[in-house]
Amino acid sequence: MEKINHSEISEFIILGLCDSWELQAFFLVIFTSLYLITIFGNIFIVVLIITDLHLHTPMYFLLANLSFIDFCLSSVTTPKMIIDFLKEIKTISFGGCMCQIFFGHFFGGGEMVLLVSMAYDRYVAICKPLHYSNIMSRHMCIGLVMASWMIGFVHSISQLVIIVNLPFCGSRVLDSFFCDIPLVIKLACLDIYVLEILINADSGVLAAICFVLLLVSYFHILTTVCLHSKDGASKALSTCTAHITVVVLFFGPCIFIYLWPVSITWVDKFLAVFYAVITPLLNPAIYTLRNKEIKTAMKRLQC
Ligand SMILES: *[C@@H]1O[C@H](CO)[C@@H](O)[C@H](O)[C@H]1NC(C)=O
Repeated sequence: MEKINHSEISEFIILGLCDSWELQAFFLVIFTSLYLITIFGNIFIVVLIITDLHLHTPMYFLLANLSFIDFCLSSVTTPKMIIDFLKEIKTISFGGCMCQIFFGHFFGGGEMVLLVSMAYDRYVAICKPLHYSNIMSRHMCIGLVMASWMIGFVHSISQLVIIVNLPFCGSRVLDSFFCDIPLVIKLACLDIYVLEILINADSGVLAAICFVLLLVSYFHILTTVCLHSKDGASKALSTCTAHITVVVLFFGPCIFIYLWPVSITWVDKFLAVFYAVITPLLNPAIYTLRNKEIKTAMKRLQC
């Protein structure tokens, strides 16, 4: 087989969301606003939880970490996309592209594991309430957070090692608004079939394990809630619906992008926008609007 050096490619051309100038101007305004709301919303939650002593519980520490990861995740792709709306020819350097892939999967993988940690926390709180403070100790909490970052890192670096060494030679055009693995490996001049399976297995196994763990936790939670306490049930259920909504919104697009890729461009782009821009915004929205304790904390802050 011929060996071709990847250094031949120094940048990729990205096509962006659409061609028309009017639409791009419209998106520029929309996405800038959404991004600012995401940033401020998530920072606000982190600050609120850190400063309010009433919220110093494992559940809110994990939520603060989730907001922090969301803040990072949205900053991987959105600012570049917004700046690109102003440019006619949109490019991304090879290094920039690899960074987007690395950090996207680092924070994305971390967020998945963190969602599992949050579900576990709720599982212990609802199904084993008497042991809650023993099980969810400070150590456990820090351990769960560390595990999220570690697993995110290992997941991301293991894929990056493969992709960085791919030979790129032909086309340099990515039909999206950011670099992601499925698009980039299509440009490699190799038979990508095995590679695609390998990479999808990497993302797929992590996502599938997290998803099964989440299903198991929520199944236990819901059956416990339904079988036992009738009075505590509605409160537990409202926290859990917030969690479950976030989980569905996070995993839904993931499954379509990595496990079951549809090859209709606008569907892919729509999912990518959803995944990169909307999900990080929805987490703070869902938690702040649905959670009484957060609302009370906000009122306390006003006084
Ligand atoms: C993340 O969780 C840890 C462990 O509970 C906590 O000490 C820390 O403050 C949290 N980080 C953020 C950014 O909220």
